[in-house]
Amino acid sequence: MEQYIIKGGNPLVGEVEIGGAKNAALPIISAAIMTDETVTLENLPDVNDVNVLLEAIERIGAQVERVDRHTVKINGSTIGDCSVEYEFIKKIRASYYLLGALLGKYKRAEVPLPGGCNIGSRPIDQHLKGFRAIGAKVEISHGSIIARADHMRGSHVFLDMVSVGATINIMMAASMADGRTIIENAAKEPHVVDVANFLNSMGADIKGAGTDVIRIRGVERFHRSTYSIVPDMIEAGTYMFAAAATKGDVMVKNVIPKHLEAMTAKLEEIGCEVEEFDDAVRVVASKRLTRTHVKTQPYPGYPTDMQPQIGVVLALASGTSIVTESIFENRFKYVDELARMGASVKVEGNTAIIDGVAGFTGARISSPDLRAGAALVVAGLAAEGITIVDDIVYIQRGYEDFEGKLRTLGAEIERVASEKEIQKFKLRVG
Ligand code: EPZ
Repeated sequence: MEQYIIKGGNPLVGEVEIGGAKNAALPIISAAIMTDETVTLENLPDVNDVNVLLEAIERIGAQVERVDRHTVKINGSTIGDCSVEYEFIKKIRASYYLLGALLGKYKRAEVPLPGGCNIGSRPIDQHLKGFRAIGAKVEISHGSIIARADHMRGSHVFLDMVSVGATINIMMAASMADGRTIIENAAKEPHVVDVANFLNSMGADIKGAGTDVIRIRGVERFHRSTYSIVPDMIEAGTYMFAAAATKGDVMVKNVIPKHLEAMTAKLEEIGCEVEEFDDAVRVVASKRLTRTHVKTQPYPGYPTDMQPQIGVVLALASGTSIVTESIFENRFKYVDELARMGASVKVEGNTAIIDGVAGFTGARISSPDLRAGAALVVAGLAAEGITIVDDIVYIQRGYEDFEGKLRTLGAEIERVASEKEIQKFKLRVG
């Protein structure tokens, strides 16, 4: 099992290049199989979730050609099987995007029902409600969702809650239904807009993505496309908060600053300087940061995927902060690990009350999930002494070359797989 070993205390300084968004790449890879022509996807992040999904589409018969680390060609003309194996949904819930894609193209799909995951129970009732509204028969049998339609026709879908996954899945299926579908109370995340733009680049007719009403006019078929994935706002945000936690000065490059506004506003509020450029933001933290309150919300609110990162920064800020998690019920699991590093945090229901401490001390901790894991690495970078983070496989699901990028910013961090390597690191850093 691999771990990160970190010697904390260095302010992060320098430039970091952000990759394509994992949460846009996953639905876009799924949607790419909806045409029989070849799709070229650029700026794909080289992270485990993306690689597993590419394997999943190969397994149902699509051709996948790796052009380079961040570019792939996909051809869905050879798909022979509309059922996805449990192995994939177990590794990556987002393979449920193949439901919308296969249903749209072939009018049938079978995908194992994803269970809960580390951050919450994560129902998908809204996805299924949307598929049913556009004419699919959906049943759950032997642990799988089986969706079929003789004829899919546009409809009006009102989502009970704002859901990224449901908005995208319904948008994909409806883009090949007959007539017009309207999704109300749609998610507005940049990755929802990116999927709509990608579908439109293949010939779909989708309007309103990025607002809460999306209008889709179904078309019969899609055609080839070459598309570059939007920059990852969560990867970018993670480096912005890493700069804040370590009192650093980091230029985060290849981003869309507009997508980062909720994070930028909070960083400014607690005392960082944030400078925006056309496609970069620079975060400078030159003094002790101060308390604030934050509540996670759908975009353009403060993202749940950035909750642990701000939690870590506030645990080092002066004063008492309140963090409210309103999207997923289990996103405070990092707090117990942080307490082992000296943080003072109390969780009550969906709220964390954080009394800032002057500093953390390094400890052996474990990564509870992707974003919490990344936030704990940030805590290790800010801590005095050595931190070892276990279960980094979660982090590798969504951050490309995390340790390499952090090292270019001056961090002392190594990926290790044995006690011998840990000792070697300790000897080297003194
Ligand atoms: C996406 O998950 C992301 N995953 C998550 O990223 C992210 O945390 C989340 O959106 C919120 O921004 C991917 O894009 C692959 P939702 P998703 O449907 O689509 C409830 C990360 O770290 N809900 O927007 O599953 C749900 O329980 C992650 O990269 C229903 O009740 O999230 C939650 O409370 C993890 N029924 C809320 O809605 C449904 O049918 C929002 O969930 C669907 C959702």
